[in-house]
Amino acid sequence: MFTEIEGDFLSGQKISEELGCSRTAVWKHIEDLRQEGYELEAVRRKGYRIKTIPDKISHNEISLGLKTETLGRKIHFEDSVTSTQKIAHQLAYDGVPEGTLVVAEEQTSGRGRLSRAWYSPKYTGVWMSLILRPNLPPAKAPQLTLLTAVAITQAIEEVTGLRPDIKWPNDILINKKKTVGILTEMQAEADKINSVIIGMGINVNQSLEQFPEELHSIATSLSIELGEKVNRAELIQTILMKFENLYQKYLQHGFYPIKLLWESYAISIGKRIIARTITGTLEGKAKGITEDGVLMLEDDQEVVHYIHSADIQI
Ligand code: BTN
Repeated sequence: MFTEIEGDFLSGQKISEELGCSRTAVWKHIEDLRQEGYELEAVRRKGYRIKTIPDKISHNEISLGLKTETLGRKIHFEDSVTSTQKIAHQLAYDGVPEGTLVVAEEQTSGRGRLSRAWYSPKYTGVWMSLILRPNLPPAKAPQLTLLTAVAITQAIEEVTGLRPDIKWPNDILINKKKTVGILTEMQAEADKINSVIIGMGINVNQSLEQFPEELHSIATSLSIELGEKVNRAELIQTILMKFENLYQKYLQHGFYPIKLLWESYAISIGKRIIARTITGTLEGKAKGITEDGVLMLEDDQEVVHYIHSADIQI
């Protein structure tokens, strides 16, 4: 109701009538909002007015105005966790429905690809894990990483107007610096996915000084690139919306429409790259991705290599 009234006063009477609860219950909820860091003005005969919204995100802020059908309909929100991936794995194992989202303000042991750490300081970024239960063979799961990259890129474009690039398979860069990382993990049997857990780490409102020194030349945040703070709850809502559209398209029509979108954002296609895989280093031209999201690299002898997992240098 406060979101709809856009900064105007809302009377306790109106809130209690609309929500069908007592005035005491309204007062308690107002106190809860204050605890969450909202500054609320109370004026006799006028009611309550939100003066400032905290620079925190809350369960409420993410769900208020969320227009998705399934994604984010159930949100598990925490102030501080070791890793949202860890919590999501447990929830998925416990049988929560598709679309359940785990969001935290801080991760103390955020995980990246290849067992790297993911730096996740409090109140600055979006650290979240989405649980999906697609009826697909396990080999298709990597396609969801590419779909995620497209969804986040589209959401960043819409919310900030910035123009991110995707570096295969799952890095989102702005001005060549890493802004987003995606970690896809799954619980599966030989021929059936039980759940896919998509971890998304987005550097949103960090200043350069808030990054460790060793990341200064390779990482950035949306606010550094934009020159102003970005509303994290709005970004999460937009990601979920874009994701749901793409996911429905993917389940109905397969990977091809997603592949086209992914290629339109890809920074490395057609360029010379170095791919460091666990079996060695390859150098050549990135030709594109296959129907399954596998990277095709053509070396100087014109031999095409199919790369499933690697670190790419452009
Ligand atoms: C990468 O190495 O680029 C992937 C980074 C993924 C980080 C996200 S933050 C939310 C989720 N929880 C984690 O511990 N990792 C992922």
